[in-house]
Amino acid sequence: MPTRDQILNAAHRIREGKLVAFPTETVYGLGADATNGIAVAEVFAAKGRPQFNPLIVHVASLHQAREFAEFSSPALRLAEALWPGPLSLVLPLKREHNIAPLVTAGLNTIAVRQPDHPVAQELITACDRPLAAPSANLSGHVSATTAEHVAKDFQNIELTILDGGPTRIGLESTIVHCHDDRAVILRTGAITAGALERHVTLSDPSPVRDPQKPSSPGQLASHYAPSVPVRLDARQVDKNEALLAFGPDPLPGAGRTINLSERGNLKEAAARLFGALRDLDCNKFRAIAVMPVPNMDLGIAINDRLRRAAVPRGQI
Ligand code: TXA
Ligand code: MG
Repeated sequence: MPTRDQILNAAHRIREGKLVAFPTETVYGLGADATNGIAVAEVFAAKGRPQFNPLIVHVASLHQAREFAEFSSPALRLAEALWPGPLSLVLPLKREHNIAPLVTAGLNTIAVRQPDHPVAQELITACDRPLAAPSANLSGHVSATTAEHVAKDFQNIELTILDGGPTRIGLESTIVHCHDDRAVILRTGAITAGALERHVTLSDPSPVRDPQKPSSPGQLASHYAPSVPVRLDARQVDKNEALLAFGPDPLPGAGRTINLSERGNLKEAAARLFGALRDLDCNKFRAIAVMPVPNMDLGIAINDRLRRAAVPRGQI
């Protein structure tokens, strides 16, 4: 874990407009002062991210979020029940606010969450700014779940990395768009539909989706793609393929196998997923074959990320 001095030093850098990668309970974030447009532009540049994809703003408290986002009563119920935690709320931006326009990529809504990680909380509190932070990976790469992943993706830029070890959850937050009295899941994650429904009524997402112009997250078809093709629902595998296995009986015959969870535990599988995809993504293999993962609980979010990883890169 980083020392108090390292966190204070990182907070100082944020206030100078520099980037700091920090751990959260989901994945590592590439953070910048959300009120500093130049710093936010650096984030887009560092990631090579399309400008229309807006960023999540991280806060240390609900109070801080209410300085720039409008909370309807369903939104308030969700935040009060599930923050700090792996839940991002997409809410109307207040008319008066000091968030840099680039953060929301011109939308009049903003995604905000309070991460449940002591290092993230301390950093945000120490710099006394909301932090705009996408996942700390190059655009199109899988999200970073260790400080080493972050360092590898950003070798060429000056970046302070707070190393909090591997992240606990390993999948990005659930994103929920709160309209006045409607809540719609935009991205699945560790907070399941069932957990949300204890507090709000969920509506279906609107069916019209233009992958070139995402108004909501994760609509870029190929978002998590390794450079090697990913083949889902594998029932057999050969030695020219790498195998991403799940459960006690990995398929025999792969050139290399990583098991997401021998005991078939979905939490363990989620926490290992992105690291495993990175490890298997080497051109020694023709493809990464993936065994089926049960489509329940966290498995729904795991399968969502796997489907994206399987879309050929050319089809973004
Ligand atoms: O767990 C997480 O959410 C991690 C950690 C670092 O907090 N962050 C993360 O950020 O996954 P990122 O940028 O990789 O994904 C953010 C998603 C994007 O797909 C973006 O389109 C969506 O949030 N988003 C942000 N603002 C939005 C808005 N106003 N309306 C709809 N979608 C929004
Ligand atoms: Mg991301």
